[in-house]
Amino acid sequence: MLIINNLNDNDFPYFPYPLQESGNEEDYITTNHLMARPIRLNRQAAEVLRLADGVTQLSDIIGHIMELYPDAGGSEVIKPRVMELLRIFTERELIWWRGVPALPVPVQPPQSIFWEITSACNLRCLHCVVGAGPGLEEELSTSKCLELAEELAAFGVKNIAFSGGEPLLRPDFFTIAEKVRELGMGVQVATNGTLITPQIAHHLMNLDADVQVSLDGSRPEIYDILRPGQKAFTKCIEGIQALVAEGHQVTIGTVLSTINIKDIPEIVALTERLGATAFRLIPFVPKGRGQLHKDMEVPLAQVKEIVQYLHDMRGRTRLQISPLEFEDMLDGCLCPDPLVPETPLKCGGAVEYGTITPTGEVLTCHFFEGVRADNVRSASFRDVWYRSRFLNYFRSLRVSDLHGNCSTCTWLPRCAGSCRAVNYAKGDLFGGNKSCWVSQNTAEARLK
Ligand SMILES: C[S@@+](CC[C@H](N)C(=O)[O-])C[C@H]1O[C@@H](n2cnc3c(N)ncnc32)[C@H](O)[C@@H]1O
Ligand code: SF4
Ligand code: SF4
Repeated sequence: MLIINNLNDNDFPYFPYPLQESGNEEDYITTNHLMARPIRLNRQAAEVLRLADGVTQLSDIIGHIMELYPDAGGSEVIKPRVMELLRIFTERELIWWRGVPALPVPVQPPQSIFWEITSACNLRCLHCVVGAGPGLEEELSTSKCLELAEELAAFGVKNIAFSGGEPLLRPDFFTIAEKVRELGMGVQVATNGTLITPQIAHHLMNLDADVQVSLDGSRPEIYDILRPGQKAFTKCIEGIQALVAEGHQVTIGTVLSTINIKDIPEIVALTERLGATAFRLIPFVPKGRGQLHKDMEVPLAQVKEIVQYLHDMRGRTRLQISPLEFEDMLDGCLCPDPLVPETPLKCGGAVEYGTITPTGEVLTCHFFEGVRADNVRSASFRDVWYRSRFLNYFRSLRVSDLHGNCSTCTWLPRCAGSCRAVNYAKGDLFGGNKSCWVSQNTAEARLK
């Protein structure tokens, strides 16, 4: 565990999680995926965390609390209490610290939106990053979705990638997707494939939709380990066949795990035999139900072997192999580019694309579900996009904020920290990238 000896008065803490009143004015609750159970806080503690907004210095937070509670005993009493609270939260990885404020960065409208249109799913994959299941009552209504589609088009969004849960489970899916198409935006759909009949494949073709189907095993014995008792493999294959028969260019997406790592060559071969067009390897993120199955994470040396394998497959298959994380660095050479500390993180979340959750929250991507996000129910998407505290915080991150392996890695100028999802899932947003096999590689190269 991180041991915090000194919190610096000049630093800017950020508490990214929600704070809810418990019903009693003096009692607040906060929770996230890193807490074994919700934490109860009194009003003063909640006030401190609310002020930890990434743009207020620690010394100013203490000053504000003293103004709010003039009879609480002054600086000698208040400062140690604030420091103790922040120390405890920091040790639990619940507060992010930077030496600079998270000032808004100029940003354009997003090109693409990942729209998780429902959290309902007909499957219960063990690894599901969003923990999809029966669905939520407070999901956006049909009329709100149609209104939102108009707003996104007017704002300049070019593509909507529908996901979920299982998007095809939503009875009004085609009403919403057709509206999106009519408005001139491209339609993509991420689906588990099991609900795709020839009619649905035809309907999707009318939308000119790009379809990605999740297939995490080449045969039932492997696929079904991830979906115990659900006997979904055959339906998934039939769904892919229906799409291909209709003329779709299908992408197969496979989440890499210890369950299927040895099966990857077979999944690629099956993808080709089925007539799909592209294969995409998806790094496993231990979040949602995946958090309960951390043992599915593949050791980094083996991830590198699979990336090398797929890299080598290019040219040997007619399939398109989607770009692989850290593929550029496979040769282990040292990166020639100079480091510019102000380079933004590589992630396009909150800049090129955003995610809308089933209940209307706007996030960078679904891996960050659980943070205190702003919602399209209470403001326009445009307002949320420009003003959201979380999105602005994320946009302001720079390579100079990174610690650990990344801060000394020669590839940092080119990779800019890569995807932070696994780090976030493990509570260490700024640390060395926990899904990266490269730093080990470059350290070896330096010794040669
Ligand atoms: C949550 S699913 C929703 C769409 C659809 N139901 C499906 O399974 O494709 C969206 C994407 O997240 C991927 N996914 C699920 N769990 C994941 C995890 N733990 N780590 C990384 N990706 C994950 C799926 O493979 C899929 O590509
Ligand atoms: S990964 Fe997709 S298919 Fe599996 S439970 Fe989650 S939403 Fe459903
Ligand atoms: S260690 Fe960090 S900077 Fe280096 S390649 Fe990996 S993610 Fe990129």
